[in-house]
Amino acid sequence: MPEDILVLGIESSCDETAAAVVKNGREVLSNVISSQIDIHTLYGGVVPEIASRKHIERINQVIEEALLNAEVTLEEIDAISVTYGPGLVGALLVGVSAAKAIAYAVHKPLVGVHHIEGHIAANYIEHKELKPPFLCLVVSGGHTHLVKVIEYNRFEVIGCTHDDAAGEAFDKVARAIGLGYPGGPKVDKIAKEGNPYAIEFPRAKIAGEGHEYDFSFSGVKSAVLNYLNGCEMKNVVINKADVAASFQQAVVEVLVERAVNATKKFGDRRIAVAGGVAANSALRMAMQDRCSDEGIELFYPSPVYCTDNAAMIASQGYYEYISGTRSGLDLNAVPNLKIGQKKI
Ligand code: KG4
Ligand code: ZN
Repeated sequence: MPEDILVLGIESSCDETAAAVVKNGREVLSNVISSQIDIHTLYGGVVPEIASRKHIERINQVIEEALLNAEVTLEEIDAISVTYGPGLVGALLVGVSAAKAIAYAVHKPLVGVHHIEGHIAANYIEHKELKPPFLCLVVSGGHTHLVKVIEYNRFEVIGCTHDDAAGEAFDKVARAIGLGYPGGPKVDKIAKEGNPYAIEFPRAKIAGEGHEYDFSFSGVKSAVLNYLNGCEMKNVVINKADVAASFQQAVVEVLVERAVNATKKFGDRRIAVAGGVAANSALRMAMQDRCSDEGIELFYPSPVYCTDNAAMIASQGYYEYISGTRSGLDLNAVPNLKIGQKKI
C-alpha cells in the first residue's frame, strides 16, 4: 500500500452535486459542492426529477474541479468512493454511474459509502484525535438517529425517530411560517431574534422500555401548525421569530437530553453530532453547555461539513478501503439503505 492514500469522494444523494479529494481519510485537498438550492426554492422543496437532471449536468465538471483544486490526476487517486444510499434513487444513480465509469476507465477500486456513515465521518476531518468507539447523534433532513460507532465500519443504531426527522420538522415549520426552503438555516437565523420560551410547544418523548433513545417530531410540528391556524382564526398576527425560537427550543431540548443520556450509558463520555441539523447554532450551544456540565467531550464538524458534501464520503470511503471493502461494477443505488448494512 502506498504511504499516502488519496480517495476521490462523490456525493449526489439529494440536492448537492459534490466531489472531493481527501488524503488518508482526514486531510481535505479539495471539496467542491454545487448546490441546487436556487432551483428547488422555486418549488418549496426538492423536486426529485429536477435534482437528477441537474446532477447529470454538473457531475463531470464538479469532479474535474475537485481533481484540479487538489492538484492530482485520476491516475494518482487510490480509490473512488461514492454515496450509494440512502437518498433519492435518480439522484444517487448519477453519482454511482459516474463513480463506476471512472473506476472502470482508470482501473481503480470502487467503494460504495452509506450517506449517514459519511455524515458521521465528517467529524474525523477536523478532529484528528477522534477515533471509534464513540456515540453519534445524527440529525439530517431524513434521519434522526443515535448511533454507536463501534469501529470505523461497524455501527449499531440505539435510537431513531418514529416519524419525522429533525431536519424535516425544521423544513415543514419554516414553510408554515413562510420562511421558505431550505427551512433549517432560516429558522436558525430568525430564531436568534425570538424568545425560545414565548410559546410552550410539546417536548415529545416516546414512552416505554426500549424507547429511551427514540425521538418523535411530528407532534411538535403539528402543535406549531395548530398554533398558526389558531392565530389566523383569531386574526392574531404571529411573531415569526418567537414561533421559530420556541419550536427550535422544543426540538433542541429533546435532542440534547436523549443524546446526553445515551452518552452516559453507551458513549464512554464522548459524543459527536453529525448531519445538516448539526449546523444549528442553538443545538451546538445547548450541546456544548450540557456536555461541559456533564463532563462529556463533544465533537461536531464545521457547518460546511455538517450539510451534504463529498469530503465526508471520501473520509468514510478511506476507512472502508483500508479495511478491505470493495464494491463491484454492479454497485446499485439503494434508496432505503440501512446504517451498518453490509455491502451488496
Ligand atoms: O444532512 P443534510 O444536508 O441532508 C440530508 O442528508 O438530509 O441535512 C439537510 C437538513 C435540512 O432539513 C435542513 O433544513 C437542515 O438539515 N439544516 C438545518 C440547518 N442547516 C441545515 N437545520 C437547522 N438549523 C440549521 N442551521
Ligand atoms: Zn445528508
